[in-house]
Amino acid sequence: PAPGLLQGKRVLVSAGGTREPLDPVRFLGNRSSGRQGTAMAAAALAAGARVTLVAANVERDVLCEAGLGAPGSAAGLEVVGVESALELRETMLQLAAEADIVVMAAAVADYRPASLAETKLKKQGDDGLTLQLVQNPDILRDLVAQRAAGTAPAGQRIVGFAAETGDEHGTVLEYGSAKLLRKGADFLVVNEVGAGRGFGTAENSVTLVAARDGSAEVIGERRGSKADVSQWVLSRVVTSGPSR
Ligand code: PMT
Repeated sequence: PAPGLLQGKRVLVSAGGTREPLDPVRFLGNRSSGRQGTAMAAAALAAGARVTLVAANVERDVLCEAGLGAPGSAAGLEVVGVESALELRETMLQLAAEADIVVMAAAVADYRPASLAETKLKKQGDDGLTLQLVQNPDILRDLVAQRAAGTAPAGQRIVGFAAETGDEHGTVLEYGSAKLLRKGADFLVVNEVGAGRGFGTAENSVTLVAARDGSAEVIGERRGSKADVSQWVLSRVVTSGPSR
């Protein structure tokens, strides 16, 4: 976006992938590098916003690539580290109470181990091991509910990302649109993931969908570096007008 487009605005972005601990040394995780969320934070900063980046297990190199590396290197930026979905949830809900734009680019585990072993799990004989998982709360939905309850600045915009794959029952866009309406966010950045796309890569190919009067409207498509995609998404989110 143009420099100054987000002057005076507070932008909260989550990036990376959650880790759901099994025992003191093991976790269930995913392949999010944090590049897309970090690029969103950098784009918001460049447009003049005050930015908080909630980084779930993002390597320092990834922050450096986006110019957000050294502590204090970027004025107007705060980076908060989290590990699990529950930690991410608590941090996002607290910080969203003060944010004009909230972006959930993090890949959040839908499930976590039902119990956390205090000591390292031992190998169980020669048989397999069955893990019991419980569902994690949906943070995006909870952010929407928090806003509906009045704990958010007026006009707050909530933006989700969706990593989708198409199949014989629907296209990437159909799944993304249904997800937007189900979760109640204002915008969803739908990215097709799969071999060499989305997770970990330097580039992304996205379709931005907005919720309008109970249906999903395609705002546009963009393919490019994650920095380019981020600038495009932010300017569309700001200029597309309130969707509620
Ligand atoms: O980090 P990179 O390597 O750059 O990769 C970027 C990315 C592909 C991870 C990113 O662009 C992306 O698509 N992030 C969201 C991936 C995802 O988890 O999609 P989802 O369909 O599971 O979730 C949809 C939305 O709900 C997301 O905004 C997610 O943050 C949110 N969610 C999901 C589950 C949950 N329990 N709580 C949530 O808030």
